Amino acid sequence: METKKYLIETFGCQMNIHDSEKIAGMLRNLGYEETQDKFNADIIVFNTCCIRESAELKIMAKIGDIKAIKKQNKNLIVVVCGCMTQQKGMPENLKKKFPFINIIMGTHNLEELENYINKFNATHKSFSDVWEKEKEIKEQTNVYRTSKYNAWVNIMYGCNNFCTYCIVPYVRGRERSRKVEDIKEEVKNLVASKKYKTITLLGQNVNSYGLDFKDGKTNFITLLKELSTLEGDFKIKFMTSHPKDFSFELIDYIASNNKISKSIHLPVQSGSNAILKSMNRHYTIEHYKELVDRIYSKIPNATITTDIIVGFPGETDEDFISTCNLLEYCNYSGVFGFVYSKRKGTPAEKFENQVPINVKRERITKLFDIQHKIVKKLSDQLVGKEIEVLIEDKVKNFYIGKTEAGKTIKIKDEDLQVGEFYKVRINKALTNDLVGEIIKC
Ligand code: 5AD
Ligand code: SF4
Repeated sequence: METKKYLIETFGCQMNIHDSEKIAGMLRNLGYEETQDKFNADIIVFNTCCIRESAELKIMAKIGDIKAIKKQNKNLIVVVCGCMTQQKGMPENLKKKFPFINIIMGTHNLEELENYINKFNATHKSFSDVWEKEKEIKEQTNVYRTSKYNAWVNIMYGCNNFCTYCIVPYVRGRERSRKVEDIKEEVKNLVASKKYKTITLLGQNVNSYGLDFKDGKTNFITLLKELSTLEGDFKIKFMTSHPKDFSFELIDYIASNNKISKSIHLPVQSGSNAILKSMNRHYTIEHYKELVDRIYSKIPNATITTDIIVGFPGETDEDFISTCNLLEYCNYSGVFGFVYSKRKGTPAEKFENQVPINVKRERITKLFDIQHKIVKKLSDQLVGKEIEVLIEDKVKNFYIGKTEAGKTIKIKDEDLQVGEFYKVRINKALTNDLVGEIIKC
């Protein structure tokens, strides 16, 4: 008998990419193999994201495309999961719009997928099961990892922050941390496999890790200390941090520990204090700049990336100029810029002074223009410097490496080991890539 095939369509952030690795693990457990061809699939899983309206519209269009395929292949199972389905009224809406969907489930019951598929196969009745509230964390062991040298590891789920623009706390629930022992065991096995050179710890606000245990001793720094006792040649990255909880102590700890990556993602969202207040972010630009100053002064070779929203309700030209000025101040090595989009049920949806779409578009274009120039300047400044690089591939007679900050670097050399770290001198900065040579000891 031919093996059944699965296809997973993933939308959204790293958290979702990793959830899809868990979904793949469950599908493989049931005997499915991967296909990229939707016409050849026996099951298609849409792992959705609702953080921005644009993502949601794209997902709806993609699900709509399945209608024709389902007509040809009546046995095709269609599953929709992920945070989009957690929104009030969404399961009903999906059922009405796309009656061909067989299973609708949410983020809190992802681990039930195997049971749900078995249930559907036994009854051939479509159903929806979205839990309103989060339950205790269920550990999942059979993750099917798709990234080559980086392994994602959840350290916590949910968010308590309620930024006024953001739907995440409503669809992913309150903060729940995984136990230190469970995380350590997972990381230990990943490192021992010798396949993974970076371990990226995931959470909506990793800086508040462990606080829900209320034991007065577990926190993000104690977790990092525990993980860095593990033997092996690997780096620990983490995302996402919140400036209100990103402490000076953490910066000093990152500086002191060479197992921790010096590439830091610190979303600022806006350069204007008035907008930050209205976003409910609980820090000022002055405090944020202090954090940035300390990162650059204490951590040699540190790089910082950020998230920015333009066109938040009430954002004036002056507010936007403050954001542009902040880009110059922080010398970000990367900016994830987003146009504000209204999310149902969030406070900002009802704010007055919504910014017209043409203004939002102008601002995002300007933001990217400024950032592009900063990235070029930073790349030029790297010429002559020595940095650590992970060799990820060989193409013709060039090795392709990645810097800690994720920049691609080409190296012409005879015999390097793919998957190993090397010290490299940067010789040239091209528009997107760097060119370097190995420093021979
Ligand atoms: N509109 C635009 N961007 C948003 N983000 C979160 N919610 C919204 C929204 N309603 C952005 C933030 C966050 C990133 C993951 O997505 O910048 O840090
Ligand atoms: Fe959303 Fe704010 Fe929580 Fe980040 S910290 S997930 S932006 S509510």
